[in-house]
Amino acid sequence: MGRVAIVTGGTRGIGAAISCRLKDMGMTVVANYAGNAEKARAFESETGIRTYAWDVGDFDACQKGCAQVEKDVGPVDVLVNNAGITRDATLLKMTYEMWDAVMRINLGGCFNMAKAVFPGMKDRGWGRIVNIGSINGQGGQYGQVNYAAAKSGIHGFTKALAQEGAKFGVTVNALAPGYIDTDMVAAVPEDVLAKIVAKVPVGRLGQADEIARGVAFLCGEDAGFVTGSTLSINGGQHMY
Ligand code: CAA
Repeated sequence: MGRVAIVTGGTRGIGAAISCRLKDMGMTVVANYAGNAEKARAFESETGIRTYAWDVGDFDACQKGCAQVEKDVGPVDVLVNNAGITRDATLLKMTYEMWDAVMRINLGGCFNMAKAVFPGMKDRGWGRIVNIGSINGQGGQYGQVNYAAAKSGIHGFTKALAQEGAKFGVTVNALAPGYIDTDMVAAVPEDVLAKIVAKVPVGRLGQADEIARGVAFLCGEDAGFVTGSTLSINGGQHMY
């Protein structure tokens, strides 16, 4: 059965790996992106995966974007809320704008996108929502009160929506990656990152596809009894 999936932030990093994995599973995948049109065009021509630009932090843009996707490729069965940004600084240096941008996009984006596709999943009696949380939402991280709060919020959002979706056949799960070899992690100062990696029992950064495989499991036809869970893929860095 050809499921339709939207992956937000789906043209780069972890999102790109997820888009490709879901495509390999036979889904029709749409990759949303916010700003980097050049990268999106390259991704589309390399993979054949359609890309659509809108800001997941904008409620109306999510409504319009998802309506357009449904018109073009059909009802959305699978949503992967992957889009996220960092604006790292200690609280003393963090501005309100840095706080607000991260909350609006990382956490607000999950709400906005779920509002757009959950009603259809409920009506059709099947859906999969996977929200990308973070090890730093589970354990906190120096310099990330905004990001840790938003990602921690995603874990609560997931458990609440899982309870609401269960009777309609819609599962809602979170996947909490550790430090993965992406542009986002490459932006962490080298000396700081070296100290973080030194604390990862597996002794290295994760690969984007190691996250994508977990997402693929949670989106599968046979994962219907898995809901409200958090799958932690972090090389053993955080074990709670
Ligand atoms: N615990 C305790 N103290 C710490 C610390 C830590 N983890 N990290 C830094 N400090 C201390 C430093 O030792 C220093 O102390 P002194 O002033 O006494 O020397 C002080 O804090 C200031 O440190 P910096 O020089 O690093 O301060 P800065 O203002 O230049 O930068 C920062 C602060 C932006 C937070 C920087 O440390 C940083 O980028 N840290 C990495 C944050 C991080 O891990 N982000 C993850 C991004 S990837 C991601 O988020 C994906 C995901 O889901 C995992």
